[in-house]
Amino acid sequence: MHMFAFCVFLSFLALFQCTECPLGCQCSAATNTVRCVSKDLRSVPLSIPGYARTLVVTGNHIHRIGAGSFPELENLTNVCLSDNRISEVGSHTFSSMTRLRSLDLSLNRLALIHPEALSVPGSPLQELNLSRSLYNTTSLTDLAAALRWGGLAGLLRLDLSGNRPGLLAPATFSHLPSLQHLLLPHNSLVSVYSGAFSGLTRLTLLDLSHNAFRMFPDEALEEFGRLGPDARLLLGQNPYLCSCEIRGFVAWLNSSSVTPRLADPDELRCAAPRGLREARLRDVRGDAGCDSAPPAGRGEEADRLSLGTSYALLGLVLGLVVLVFLFVLYLNRRGMKQWITDMRDGCHDVLEGYHYRYDIDHDPRLGRMASGATAAAGSGHFGTAPSVRLPSDTRVDVQTPTEQVTV
Ligand SMILES: *[C@@H]1O[C@H](CO)[C@@H](O)[C@H](O)[C@H]1NC(C)=O
Ligand SMILES: *[C@@H]1O[C@H](CO)[C@@H](O)[C@H](O)[C@H]1NC(C)=O
Ligand SMILES: *[C@@H]1O[C@H](CO)[C@@H](O)[C@H](O)[C@H]1NC(C)=O
Ligand SMILES: *[C@@H]1O[C@H](CO)[C@@H](O)[C@H](O)[C@H]1NC(C)=O
Repeated sequence: MHMFAFCVFLSFLALFQCTECPLGCQCSAATNTVRCVSKDLRSVPLSIPGYARTLVVTGNHIHRIGAGSFPELENLTNVCLSDNRISEVGSHTFSSMTRLRSLDLSLNRLALIHPEALSVPGSPLQELNLSRSLYNTTSLTDLAAALRWGGLAGLLRLDLSGNRPGLLAPATFSHLPSLQHLLLPHNSLVSVYSGAFSGLTRLTLLDLSHNAFRMFPDEALEEFGRLGPDARLLLGQNPYLCSCEIRGFVAWLNSSSVTPRLADPDELRCAAPRGLREARLRDVRGDAGCDSAPPAGRGEEADRLSLGTSYALLGLVLGLVVLVFLFVLYLNRRGMKQWITDMRDGCHDVLEGYHYRYDIDHDPRLGRMASGATAAAGSGHFGTAPSVRLPSDTRVDVQTPTEQVTV
């Protein structure tokens, strides 16, 4: 009897929860989880049960979230809003979630982020995923402000991968004093400015792999040096240019204080010059590309140098040839004069012959014949007009064999 009553109670509870679960969502009181996945929702459902600790809303079309989107959700610790085409995050959007530990906003199109969008009283947030979520460089500026004013003193892990920012403004992360993991792979970073990672004294992992770094100048190496002794570095899968300038970086990699901190030493490879492509950076000799006379075929540098040399040589040879030619002309100036006179006489004879033929062409009889041909062509006997008329003073009629037949 007791058992029966318990069952009825349970089913009543289940029914109650069923009615309480928002349309298009799945609610589980056992795991304290609410999932609203790929239901084409236009906003976050308002009636999410209060027991929920994990909320997963993904694959919908929610353009904006703001302060009213999550009322009375004090129990939420994990919120995943990935892949919802969210473009705007308003002020104090997550303020009601005083136990929020993990927030996933990845795969969105954040164009407008309010400076206080991420602020939650008591700074409970530990994990923030903004992977592939920023729309353009303006949103990066917005985000920097939100990280600064969000009071994210407890944040441990920040994923900013796949956002293509190109450059990071100095002090972007300086208000995240607890940060341990900073993930920046798959961006288009080309340079690390002095101060880019200032304030990150607790960092244990910095991922800069899969970016566009061609090398790290001394300024950047000093920046890495300030990170604290435990920070492991991922620097692989960048298009390193193994020219002379990379010496400092290679020596730094090889120093006893840095080598143990490299998490992916074998992934640091040269992308150029051609001769060193795919070579591991740590195998590159310290004087790579710095020889005063690089052997031919050593790399692009050498190629460029030898190309320049061959151009100079070609110019010299051409100049010499022209000089010799002029000299020969000078020596033969008498013979040349004779030759020119001969040429002029020859031309004169040819022109005489021409004049004669011109007179023949102007024979009135032949002229009449040509007009007849034109008339025949004009009458449409043959589709195309086969006679070409030039201005009357130099009129010459061109006659094709078919015309001859017509005449
Ligand atoms: C949060 O969870 C606790 C314990 O499970 C519960 O007593 C409380 O009612 C919940 N809060 C809300 C707003 O439902
Ligand atoms: C952040 O989100 C992306 C995409 O949803 C996911 O692949 C990645 O693993 C997440 N990062 C972390 C640190 O969980
Ligand atoms: C970024 O996108 C927003 C919204 O479309 C726009 O207002 C802003 O001008 C864009 N910024 C840049 C640098 O293109
Ligand atoms: C790395 O350091 C060792 C000694 O610590 C040295 O023998 C070696 O030549 C160095 N390699 C490079 C590439 O600098």
